[in-house]
Amino acid sequence: MVQKSNTMKRNTLKSYSHSCPLSHHCTPSPRQKQLLSKKSTYRALLDSVTPGEDSARFQIINEPAKVPLLAEVCGIEGNIFRLKINEEIPLKPRYEVPDVLTSKLTTVRLTSCPGDTGSLVLASGKGDLKCHITANPFKVDLVSEEEVVMSINSLGQLYFEQLQIPPKQRATKKNEEDASIDTTQENQEELGLWEEKFENFVDVKVNGPASIGLDFSLHGFEHLYGIPQHAESHQLKNTSDSDAYRLYNLDVYGYKIHDKMGIYGSVPYLLAHKLGRTLGIFWLNASETLVEIKTEPAVKYTLTQTGPVAAKQKVGSRTDVHWMSESGIIDVFLLTGPTPSDVFKQYSYLTGTQAMPPLFSLGYHQCRWNYEDEQDVKAVDAGFDEHDIPYDVMWLDIEHTEGKRYFTWDKKRFPNPKRMQDLLRSKKRKLVVISDPHVKVDPNYSVYAKAKEQGFFVRNHEGGDFEGVCWPGLSSYLDFTNPKVRKWYSSLFAFSVYQGSTDILHIWNDMNEPSVFKGPEQTMQKNAIHHGNWEHRELHNIYGFYQQMATTEGLIQRSKGKERPFVLTRSFFAGSQKYGAVWTGDNTAEWSHLKISIPMLLTLSVTGISFCGADVGGFIGDPEAELLVRWYQAGAYQPFFRGHATMNTKRREPWLFGEEHTRLIREAIRERYTLLPYWYSLFYSAHVASQPVMRPLWVEFPNELETFSVEDEYMLGGALLVHPVTEPKATVVDVFLPGSSEIWYDSKTFAHWKGACTVKIPVTLDAIPVFQRGGSVVPIKTTIGRSTGFMTNSPYGLRVALSTKGSAMGEFYLDDGHSFQYLHQKQFLHRKFSFSSGVLTNSCADERGHYPSKCVVEQILVLGLKKQPSSVTAHSADGSAQPVAFTYHATTSTLKLETLSLNIGADWKVRVQ
Ligand code: NOJ
Repeated sequence: MVQKSNTMKRNTLKSYSHSCPLSHHCTPSPRQKQLLSKKSTYRALLDSVTPGEDSARFQIINEPAKVPLLAEVCGIEGNIFRLKINEEIPLKPRYEVPDVLTSKLTTVRLTSCPGDTGSLVLASGKGDLKCHITANPFKVDLVSEEEVVMSINSLGQLYFEQLQIPPKQRATKKNEEDASIDTTQENQEELGLWEEKFENFVDVKVNGPASIGLDFSLHGFEHLYGIPQHAESHQLKNTSDSDAYRLYNLDVYGYKIHDKMGIYGSVPYLLAHKLGRTLGIFWLNASETLVEIKTEPAVKYTLTQTGPVAAKQKVGSRTDVHWMSESGIIDVFLLTGPTPSDVFKQYSYLTGTQAMPPLFSLGYHQCRWNYEDEQDVKAVDAGFDEHDIPYDVMWLDIEHTEGKRYFTWDKKRFPNPKRMQDLLRSKKRKLVVISDPHVKVDPNYSVYAKAKEQGFFVRNHEGGDFEGVCWPGLSSYLDFTNPKVRKWYSSLFAFSVYQGSTDILHIWNDMNEPSVFKGPEQTMQKNAIHHGNWEHRELHNIYGFYQQMATTEGLIQRSKGKERPFVLTRSFFAGSQKYGAVWTGDNTAEWSHLKISIPMLLTLSVTGISFCGADVGGFIGDPEAELLVRWYQAGAYQPFFRGHATMNTKRREPWLFGEEHTRLIREAIRERYTLLPYWYSLFYSAHVASQPVMRPLWVEFPNELETFSVEDEYMLGGALLVHPVTEPKATVVDVFLPGSSEIWYDSKTFAHWKGACTVKIPVTLDAIPVFQRGGSVVPIKTTIGRSTGFMTNSPYGLRVALSTKGSAMGEFYLDDGHSFQYLHQKQFLHRKFSFSSGVLTNSCADERGHYPSKCVVEQILVLGLKKQPSSVTAHSADGSAQPVAFTYHATTSTLKLETLSLNIGADWKVRVQ
């Protein structure tokens, strides 16, 4: 059980009512309450603005304390503003999060425009975006086309605790100066802030409390999303009467759902959406963070104060967001959209896009804690073939090692890891093994000995290596924040170093919050020390990010830069998408956990992490057959698709629940493999164009208010709407089909509906309600192999769903599926399919790419073709034409072409007359 510990209790106005046994952590500090209840006392000294090249800097003064802060506003390419606030002369440097921003950001010149006295107006680009800075009290308005879309510090919640000299030192100093100084009440209270107790732990803050906070008012916005990771709804809730959203990476076994307590990872980034505009706020801070959200719904009409006759005035809705972090600086990026797609691009410009996954990793993964031994692996692997179920990756959990010493193999259970990998390789399958950040304290374990010798562990505040308990018993923790440690850790993945590893072995980073059994809240003490003398509190939320970064680099290096790695991580931060995949940790085999997986994954997806998934079946407990089937059906349509179960659960390989259930699971997994070309193309779009793979409806339908709160269904790319069944014994599901000008086709029955309605879809246990949007083309595979590797040359099909206007478009991406040649040698195919006026055209979408493929399109299905054609002909680029056999079903308005042989990478046309 994780308990909640020292947070910015001074910085929050409400109690944090999680099952926290520590009453003192649930009491807000009277000091900050007092402070924040007043109007802002900060004043900007705009006269101090130095007209810089690409940023405006000015002081902000706290009136009573006269303590100067330094603010810096800059414009960043792509309609982004950055606001940084730090102490002007801190006692020592405050932590600024490194390594998250992709590269040196290109700044744009801000021109200062004339404003009223006491204000400064900075315009970026063509001048349609402005930052309007008011001096007293200090406030920033973000103005777009003369409309104020966001105000900063308009509620006066700017808060910045200064680093101080420790009271003891101060007392001695003062004593020398004035022996009669009064050290009673005030100092007493202050002392409580310098030292916090949590169970047996005492957290000493060397330079005192150092929290920061700032408010943002979003005008006209009621719908906010983001700030993972919580087992919560996709749309962020009003926290006025509840806990704030907490961002603090923790190992929470069997987490409670609908809880605002942070779990394994954090992305301090939220999106706000209203009709006509999407915005993003990226709060670059890696310390414990709280986010309060207060939505004031629109008051349609109110009486104005002035005038003889009471006039009516419309007051729009507003959402106030209050960010508070335990330490660091204020470094916030304002992403101005205006569309959801623009905001995705702006965010990935800052933090990077989703890594292009190797194709195998989009197949199905089979995991369990633990597959016992090589025999077990062999039997499970064979089970998939026997039951004709495709799968790509076998996983080994911690028990595969010698006493939880990562990079080793248990000699009894896995005497010959290479032989085991050869078996998997012969089936074109892969192996993923676990590698956690804790290292067993054992001088005979070379990883430990070498790390110890080089001083590569996190240190405790007394200066020794930090030691805590985790799976191996007493352990030390690699300090991944140190680039030297990362380099060394990466080198451990070299084939010559990692004995028994081969090129089909990929990695799973777990427990990297980091999890420290018996630690405060089951993690590391905040005053543990990292490279550069930084306290753990400063960077807690980015620890896991760094491990995945080092692992990914290690796998790339072992292949001499040639192969794309697959690395799954449990803990993550903003930018983790660059390094691989994320999953939602220790969920439970309950319907409610299946259901919450959808909003949880949508939230990760809109915050840049497209490659995400939840343990299929639920990690803890034993799912009944129906739940397991429903989970496979849902998981098949989620980006990372892995079955996993904890120790002591009953075995649950797909064939253990009777023939009928085996068939249903087989069908679900086969559907996944059928859609692989579409998945892969979507990942390419996430990789190069920043568009999430799994999309909430509001992203695809930003102008349809009804979509803003939908989270029991979602879009996969722009073409498929998926509504997983998440209720037991369901006989019908209500599916909302958005868009008044849209038409939707049931992907099984081909029945169609006009959009902007909710339809009741009858379901049996074999149904996965999936709908294709009219106007789209979805590429599929028509033959399924034992794994993705067996499908390289198998033929394609195209599912063309016509719009109300009788047209459709779609894209297709292909490369070798495993190397970086797509990037360095432009060895890829990017094609475009379009259907209009009865002609389906395959043309090139990106002339830079070349990748020869012998694969053919053998099937084309056209949905929504109103009348039977008289002929269908295929035309190749050289002008030759061939008649094509077809069948037309008038009842479903579908046309099927099944005997084609058109190269997927060639220009051609199919004419339907
Ligand atoms: C915790 C992880 O969340 C889980 O997936 C894994 O099986 C166990 N650690 C054991 O490694």
